[in-house]
Amino acid sequence: MTDVQSSPRGSYAEPYPHPSGARAPQIPREFLPRHVAVVMDGNGRWANARGLPRTEGHKAGERSLLDVVAGAVELGVEHISAYAFSTENWKRSPDEVAFIMRFTKEVMERQLETMASWGVRIRWSGRRPRLWNSVIKVLERCEEATRDNDRCTLTMCMNYGGRAELADAAASIAREVAAGRLDPRKISEKTVQQHLYVPDAPDVDLFLRSGGEHRTSNFMIWQAAYAEMIYLPEAWPDVDRRHLWQAVEEFARRDRRYGGAIDAVKPA
Ligand code: IPE
Ligand code: IPE
Ligand code: MG
Repeated sequence: MTDVQSSPRGSYAEPYPHPSGARAPQIPREFLPRHVAVVMDGNGRWANARGLPRTEGHKAGERSLLDVVAGAVELGVEHISAYAFSTENWKRSPDEVAFIMRFTKEVMERQLETMASWGVRIRWSGRRPRLWNSVIKVLERCEEATRDNDRCTLTMCMNYGGRAELADAAASIAREVAAGRLDPRKISEKTVQQHLYVPDAPDVDLFLRSGGEHRTSNFMIWQAAYAEMIYLPEAWPDVDRRHLWQAVEEFARRDRRYGGAIDAVKPA
């Protein structure tokens, strides 16, 4: 991996434009999602429909990830969390699992410099046990190389599961109680938040899933409690920044009530 210097704010490069010439919509900051969670689904079906092995779908998804990150940077989205491998994905064939592990390392090594030049801070979220050490090493190297970047944070969720994250948070809270450092009567939602893998990330505002399935598959179940859900029929390799922009435009039109209500009787 080449040495990457993160540059101070203001001297970041602009992402390459989308080849169609499409430009990011102008959306006032208050209507933008601060945190977009992306479930990059549909790779295997995309490949199989073309007579190719599933792994070709994962390969084709690299371009989509880079393009969507470019689109997030252009739009001014501060956080994007990408579901790359779930705690449930170990159920897949050993060959596919090994491919995803190796491929993720290669993608991060290949794209680090480009994303760093755009001002992207890269982080990893997930469970350490079972995840390949070499994958953790590459992700930690990306974190280190981009830690001063402050334009957009890309959290790569590898060996991530929402339930695993909450169970790990519960275990870590219990250890603090047992050590006498935490009064159990003081445990609140904030305590749980503080024990998540990436405690300082804001709540997910927009939950975007490609591939046609309408479910969370255990992604960010705590953080996305009040997220707006948008499901794309397109498989991940067919997704680009224009899908993100359209989703954000739809997000900006939605009415988020968070359980509240305003009595606004229309005149009869
Ligand atoms: C998402 O695509 C990528 C990962 C889970 C790693 P899939 O591999 O789930 O593709 P489909 O959903 O089977 O088409
Ligand atoms: C979610 O997709 C996980 C990732 C995209 C990494 P899955 O393909 O694993 O989800 P299910 O099996 O359709 O619920
Ligand atoms: Mg899938």
